[in-house]
Amino acid sequence: MPQSSDKKRPVRTADGSVTLYSERFDECYHSTRDGALRESLQKHILPAFSLLPPKEEITILDVCFGLGYNSWTTLHYLRKHSSPEKVTILSPEFDRELVASLQNFDYPSEFEPLRPIIEAVSREGVYEEERFRIEILFGDARERIPEIDRPVDIVYQDPFSPKKNPLLWTREYFAELRRIVSDDVIVTTYSSATPVRMGLYENGFLLYEPPSEGVRSGTVASLRPLDLKPIDMELKKQRNPAAASMRDADFL
Ligand SMILES: C[S@@+](CC[C@H](N)C(=O)[O-])C[C@H]1O[C@@H](n2cnc3c(N)ncnc32)[C@H](O)[C@@H]1O
Repeated sequence: MPQSSDKKRPVRTADGSVTLYSERFDECYHSTRDGALRESLQKHILPAFSLLPPKEEITILDVCFGLGYNSWTTLHYLRKHSSPEKVTILSPEFDRELVASLQNFDYPSEFEPLRPIIEAVSREGVYEEERFRIEILFGDARERIPEIDRPVDIVYQDPFSPKKNPLLWTREYFAELRRIVSDDVIVTTYSSATPVRMGLYENGFLLYEPPSEGVRSGTVASLRPLDLKPIDMELKKQRNPAAASMRDADFL
């Protein structure tokens, strides 16, 4: 779906950081109640890095790039932490016009030191230095994700909502994720919807309540047991036999 004609307007969120409202998706890019920066930090970056086993080199899949808060907050985090030594972020996004506009976006002051990187990514779609590489995978996430040929250690699962962006939440979509992730992967998402959790569970992911502080709950998914409160999907299925994952066929 071409996104260039999408009209957007800025919205200030609860923590003072600015997000956008998309007319086409009829949704904001972030939770206005949690705050764009706080949501990124508390729902994605901190849970992912606190749960990932120590590794020298990692690959992160940031689905989808949008305003880049999750990628920029990752960089902000890495400036204060020496591990991992090398980080690659791959981020699908089909809205080229949005990415090109980000060099002028009203980001929070925390991102000020990242300005040269933001400008480079906005202009070129890619930036690389010794410790860090970020690349926007322009195009449809469903086409670009299966092309990834290195094990992904962290997935920030952050598209628009399952209602508005269903093809990035289906059982088949999660099967594609499953194929490209490492055994240690940590998947973070703001969604706690049962069909989303079913889609992950049916692909072998274990599900947990996230340790997020001061933001609404979401889900953490992993392929190995984590020291978090587990979500018992068998019990959920017993209590609600009609619970089902979303399927591509319902939206294509
Ligand atoms: C909720 S926003 C992402 C917010 C982003 N993580 C951030 O921190 O700013 C969703 C993004 O997904 C993009 N998008 C939606 N469907 C897509 C698809 N099938 N392929 C690629 N990008 C898609 C939209 O253009 C939008 O920028």
